[in-house]
Amino acid sequence: MVTQDIVKDEIQLIYVSERCASTDDAAINKIKLRAEPNNHRRNITGALLYTEHYFLQYLEGEAAVVDALYASICRDPRHTNVRLLLRKSITQRDFLRWSLGVKKLLDNSENQDFIAVLNMIGQASKVSESQLEWFKLALK
Ligand SMILES: Cc1cc2nc3c(=O)[nH]c(=O)nc-3n(C[C@H](O)[C@H](O)[C@H](O)COP(=O)(O)O)c2cc1C
Repeated sequence: MVTQDIVKDEIQLIYVSERCASTDDAAINKIKLRAEPNNHRRNITGALLYTEHYFLQYLEGEAAVVDALYASICRDPRHTNVRLLLRKSITQRDFLRWSLGVKKLLDNSENQDFIAVLNMIGQASKVSESQLEWFKLALK
């Protein structure tokens, strides 16, 4: 008998949210320590980028699993105003290496462009896919 692998539908989901004032770097490190093994267990990969004011997170994995995690993230009191920027089917992942890569964008001259765009995304109601593609450069 020939067995076939069942290929599950995979998606990439991107959201932006606002950091609560009490969510300092230590609190974000706590999120990371818990999220990494959680994501690994659920076969989720992704990246979390943050600045002084905003989070931008990429999550990739099986659609139902990513949607369930996103629902729980939306309820998390450590941030507010969570807004979905993109949810699309994928055949390839962008962040295969990371269960959760976390990167802080320091407010310095090297990051000015990224910070400016993230501030814009944080205030905009709609973001184009090409803007989000460009943003992945900040995570490389
Ligand atoms: C900005 C942000 C990003 C998060 N990212 C993840 C994540 O990638 N994976 C995860 O399991 N939890 C993440 N969390 C935490 C979840 O909201 C939730 O607390 C957690 O999934 C519950 O895990 P537990 O079932 O082990 O208690 C994040 C929280 C915040 C505020």
